[in-house]
Amino acid sequence: MEKINFLELPDKELEKELVSISIKAKGHSYSPYSKFKVGAALLTQNGKIYIGANIENASFGATICAERTAVIKAVSDGENKFIAIAITSDSDNYTYPCGICRQVLSEFDKGDMKVICSNNSGKFRVLTLRELMPEIFEL
Ligand code: THU
Repeated sequence: MEKINFLELPDKELEKELVSISIKAKGHSYSPYSKFKVGAALLTQNGKIYIGANIENASFGATICAERTAVIKAVSDGENKFIAIAITSDSDNYTYPCGICRQVLSEFDKGDMKVICSNNSGKFRVLTLRELMPEIFEL
């Protein structure tokens, strides 16, 4: 099978591609408590894609969101420059990243990365991280 170079795709195609990968990632969600499945697909500047799903825990507090799963996978693999992240769930509404995930993304990105928020029919809205998280906390 031909390997896609995601960095060469036109914007709209890239966005659709990332949404469809996030929908596949959602299938790996471990969410027996909320039953709210979330998937994420994170594209790095080296053209690599890291997928993530939410992983819940009986303690509730130890739950990890799909976006953070993807970020932690990427960063621990040496990839910490991001182009875009797509997020999806089974909701009719667009799925936006929670506040903690916005902060975690902001650790590695000044705000230019795209955040592609999709709904259960694959419709999506594209924002920059800066729009979702202006005036970030920095040390
Ligand atoms: N969740 C995510 O995976 N990403 C978000 O940005 C918001 C919330 C997960 C956490 C929990 O497993 C479920 O959705 C319900 O909050």
